[in-house]
Amino acid sequence: MISHKGQPLLQPETDSGEPGPPREVWGSKLGFVLAAVGSAVGLGNMWRFPYIAADSGGAAFVVLYILLLLFIGLPVLLAELAIGRSTRLSPIGALRASGGKRWAPLGMLFVATGFLILAYYSVIAGWTVRYAIDALVTGFPADPGARFGEIASGGGAVFFHLLFVGITALIVMGGVKKGIERAAVILMPTLILILLGIAIWAATLDGCREGYAFYLRPSVDDLLNPSILARAAGQAFFSLSLGMGAMLTYASYLSRREDINGEACVIAGADFGIAFVAGLAIFPIIAALSLFGDVGESTIGALFIALPTAFEAMGGVGRAVGILFLVALVVGALTSAISLLEVVTSSVMDELKASRRKAALLTGGAIALIGILPALSLGALDIMDHLAGDVFLVFGALLLALFVGWRMKGATDELSVGSRPIFVRLLPLWRFLLRFVIPPVLLIVFFTSVMAALKALGIMAD
Ligand code: PFF
Repeated sequence: MISHKGQPLLQPETDSGEPGPPREVWGSKLGFVLAAVGSAVGLGNMWRFPYIAADSGGAAFVVLYILLLLFIGLPVLLAELAIGRSTRLSPIGALRASGGKRWAPLGMLFVATGFLILAYYSVIAGWTVRYAIDALVTGFPADPGARFGEIASGGGAVFFHLLFVGITALIVMGGVKKGIERAAVILMPTLILILLGIAIWAATLDGCREGYAFYLRPSVDDLLNPSILARAAGQAFFSLSLGMGAMLTYASYLSRREDINGEACVIAGADFGIAFVAGLAIFPIIAALSLFGDVGESTIGALFIALPTAFEAMGGVGRAVGILFLVALVVGALTSAISLLEVVTSSVMDELKASRRKAALLTGGAIALIGILPALSLGALDIMDHLAGDVFLVFGALLLALFVGWRMKGATDELSVGSRPIFVRLLPLWRFLLRFVIPPVLLIVFFTSVMAALKALGIMAD
């Protein structure tokens, strides 16, 4: 089949017809967008965002978060997409190709961060798989607090972590089009439908108003606290999968015919929308049973203790909704884990010239092994989350903004290719943000995250 410009519409299996070495490509634009949204939407949206928002200023936090997404998250996302699509390489090679040898270590930091995040992310995902199976077989536990204590670490946690990494590796082994894209095209619409359905059902519950109020009551005072800015920025990066090359790697499988600016807006919008709706689904359920006390001091409390208690108390309907909610969580975690593993796998493929199969086995195996540590110790999980999930991500994003803002040539041209005129007009603003606004903000966020991590780990006094 030939398009009106004389270009073949059907792509060869492993290449986009672009100059450079052959590389796998996405089967369709929608496939790429769904895979990228799948990377972004995960435990961070359904677990961390609603809790942090309720805990850190409600609606005022949501407004701050949207501003951070627009002026920091979106530009960094575009920077990753520009590097990935222009070089068509995984992070280490991409940074080497666009910035010279001195920038390759930033790619290595990305790979190390992805490796570490997946090692503990899959432990948490394993808990959700276990809760889902428990709920199906025996119903929600009568005492979720005690049950959580039993399953959070130990042999069972190790088993479910290994199972989860194994499934992730199998999908990554399938390749970009037949593994990652196919999974995203099936799983993401499922997740969105489930979550919207639960949010609509939750709106009919008695007490939904108190739930919304708990979630969104604005507290502007909270926003004056710099640690909340750091928390919001850290959450924005984690949620958009930025600062560790996941979006860069996914963009390396894109052809240059698409408007990546428009796609970036869709990805960021969907990521925020799903996180926001998750809060609308969760809090009315907790409010209906007045379980705010169980939300407690931690995100874990909100998800693994208060919600199961509510589902159990609501009888048959509660159980069905609870199982659906857990399915959505597992799906979100899986599509995110796939992107984390793809960063590491594609780097091994490109750097060591390994086959996809071998690379996925090797990297999946190594992550499975390292993840045993957080599966055996909640303390280790906490350290890894603070280090990789907060500190490394922000540091990676800071260096990336400096690189694309000041060093990389042709980034603006890359984003202009295939772009709508409105976006082309905004590109000077994008460059300005990357050069002058994002680095100082991220520097503050970085120091605040380091302090918070040191305090949380007991290395520094409050
Ligand atoms: N964005 C995912 C979430 O919100 O759960 C987590 C994540 C996935 C972070 C992929 C980083 C990443 F590269």
